[in-house]
Amino acid sequence: MQTVLITGANRGIGLELARLYAARGDRVIACCRDPECAAALHELDGIEIHRLDVTSVDDIADLKAALGTRPIDILINNAGIIGPERQSALNMDFDGWLKTFEVNTLGPLRLAAALLDNLRRAEAPKLVTLSSRMGSLTGGGGSDRIAYRSSKAAINRAMQGLAEDLRGERITVVVVHPGWVSTDMGGPAAPLAPRESATRLAAIIAALDHGDSGRFIDIDGKDADW
Ligand SMILES: NC(=O)c1ccc[n+]([C@@H]2O[C@H](COP(=O)([O-])OP(=O)(O)OC[C@H]3O[C@@H](n4cnc5c(N)ncnc54)[C@H](OP(=O)(O)O)[C@@H]3O)[C@@H](O)[C@H]2O)c1
Repeated sequence: MQTVLITGANRGIGLELARLYAARGDRVIACCRDPECAAALHELDGIEIHRLDVTSVDDIADLKAALGTRPIDILINNAGIIGPERQSALNMDFDGWLKTFEVNTLGPLRLAAALLDNLRRAEAPKLVTLSSRMGSLTGGGGSDRIAYRSSKAAINRAMQGLAEDLRGERITVVVVHPGWVSTDMGGPAAPLAPRESATRLAAIIAALDHGDSGRFIDIDGKDADW
């Protein structure tokens, strides 16, 4: 039985990951911005729900205080936003860009830093951040969604750095692309159902060992383009 902490667990891929790990009998620490409105999470057996806006330093401190010294085997930074309406380089909503960075880039690293001690207390801890191929700098163009793309490129680089910093420890740090998934973010045309994405992600996570630390992994398990 593992302890799995998931951010943005109230809908989309995060909810399916919570469902999947709970069904396996793992201890799921499901985090979401508004626990009172997370009806689907409350239906799951044996999970604990914590309030967490990943941009809130206070929420992160409260979560850390609630967890104390409990070991965390798997921390999944799933919460994310697509960003503002206007986000091309020629037509940028700068406040929205900043907000996108706060959620998609600063949030995951801030949480990882706060819970590092809990990860260190697990036997073979894994820190997994949901990124996107849209953040790739080498894998082809696209001038749309620049706020989102740049926030994912930046978290990729930050997690690559963290993996390097933690090389001498047992913590495996990776970023993963979950596929194009039919969630609120991915839209109805996306080919992959959230459950299928979560199932594949869980398989990738289960197979990780420390040698994988620092990788950007695609949903097929192969290396994604940085
Ligand atoms: N769907 C895709 O095709 C796709 C492709 C590549 C990467 N991804 C990545 O996969 C992850 C999950 O995406 P998804 O498709 O499941 O998205 P989604 O359906 O839009 O769900 C996003 C989740 O993030 C939460 N969230 C947003 N802002 C937050 C904040 N400040 N603090 C805490 N939680 C916050 C949302 O909570 P609320 O309900 O409170 O808003 C929701 O639970 C994201 O990181 C996304 O970038 C998705």
